[in-house]
Amino acid sequence: MPRENPGEIQRLIDGAVNGNLTRRDVLRRAVVLGLSIPAIAALLAACGDDDDDDDDDDDGGTGAGGDATEMEGDATEEEGGGGDTGDFDFSDVTTPPEVANADTASEYSGASLTYYGDGVGIGNDLDLAMAQKFTEATGIEIEVIPRPQDATETFSTYQRLFQAQSGDMDIMMVDVIWPGSFAQHLADLSEALGDDAGSFYETIMENNTVDGKLVGIPWFGDFGMLYYRTDLAEQYGYDGPPETWDDLEEMATTIQEGEKANDENFWGFVFQGNAYEGLTCDGLEWQASAGGGTIVDQDGNVTLDNAEAAAIFEKIQGWVGNIAPPGVTTYQEEDARNAFQNGQAAFMRNWPYAYSLGQGDDSAVAGNFDVAPLPAQSGSDHVGTVGGWQIGVSEYSQNKEAAIEFAKYLTSADVQKWRAIAASFVPTRPEVAEDPAVIEAMPFLQSLADVVRVVRPSTPAGDLYNEVSTAYFQGLNEILNGSDAEGSVSDMAGDIEFILG
Ligand code: GLC
Repeated sequence: MPRENPGEIQRLIDGAVNGNLTRRDVLRRAVVLGLSIPAIAALLAACGDDDDDDDDDDDGGTGAGGDATEMEGDATEEEGGGGDTGDFDFSDVTTPPEVANADTASEYSGASLTYYGDGVGIGNDLDLAMAQKFTEATGIEIEVIPRPQDATETFSTYQRLFQAQSGDMDIMMVDVIWPGSFAQHLADLSEALGDDAGSFYETIMENNTVDGKLVGIPWFGDFGMLYYRTDLAEQYGYDGPPETWDDLEEMATTIQEGEKANDENFWGFVFQGNAYEGLTCDGLEWQASAGGGTIVDQDGNVTLDNAEAAAIFEKIQGWVGNIAPPGVTTYQEEDARNAFQNGQAAFMRNWPYAYSLGQGDDSAVAGNFDVAPLPAQSGSDHVGTVGGWQIGVSEYSQNKEAAIEFAKYLTSADVQKWRAIAASFVPTRPEVAEDPAVIEAMPFLQSLADVVRVVRPSTPAGDLYNEVSTAYFQGLNEILNGSDAEGSVSDMAGDIEFILG
């Protein structure tokens, strides 16, 4: 605990009374000096109202407790500068961490930004809370627009805005597969990020670097995993999750048969079967985990047209309407999550964000599910498709500097730790991902670390990726809806070859 220093305290009082110090400065210094909360409150009162910083007044009625938490955040920031946030509660979804870059960002006070943020799960709530926190600390206004839940639709929305060179979108979420497509429209963030660049996973930084330009700061990672009901597995006599897709079929059939007696809408397995980017992720997993390799290899060769890929797609086609709901061919992430979280599915393929929501108060399956690697046919590796999002800044933004400051806040170590613990978003900073509190909240960061990560062909396809993926997911969706798997796989491969020229 810092010692009191009478000279410093007098300067602080003078600064507060004559208005030379902002409320933020007063708060910081007072906490560093170890003043008591009543003393700090008196100092703040002396600062008056006409200050540029109002984040101490407006914390949703939590009163002194709210102020105290903020002061702790500020104080550690000044003392350690190394993300030592004391007893900040990283598990409270409503309270984002302090804005560590507030001082620099405040230089752009008065700017307003439009941010295309998350549209899935709890993402928009977190965005709104972070934007509010940032505005309070910096005076930069932020309009938060949830992106469409569908990544393919998000791609089209951005494409329209970028083609019009529109300044209506300053900052946005960028999918891991888009750097090649959008590089020319995104600002180079390498200089702004500086040394902090070394604190992110190198592979994601490489993915986000196009011709030497850093087009996005890594925000959160993603990988596909299998969610399963531990209570039902036990009840029906299984001692763990399925190893192979055949095991999954068998378990899903048995559990569904039993459970349909209580609930007609109970299904064995839910996944992302709609014709959109999510199905490309699921399809690649099926294929790669069944000896069918990848869609396009890193040299640009189309490797999709093979018997193993066709066979697994045919198997999954056979599940639609049997162990998967007939409507699964229109399911996206949230449809699957809703079914599982309502207790109406034994197995689900989804991303990590569904983990924390599934443990929530309003979840019917809290405490009764776990995650495991996705099944693999014997002889093949367990795999998960790599996903994830970056924060990018538009080349056409009129407020790039302010947007970059917001991007730095969103991707900062404390915010990543908070999003990991409160909402199971996978950190893109190894230091945060290895934090014991993060691993406690997301044990699968360790238990699924050996699962092979498979990537969609965005590097070899470059700016043609969206067309390649569209050919793949459309063909796959037709297969799920009944078209002949072998013929379709060959057509899909032909289309992709044509696209890649
Ligand atoms: C998740 C992934 C993203 C992927 C999308 C598909 O958001 O992070 O990479 O494209 O799902 O639906």
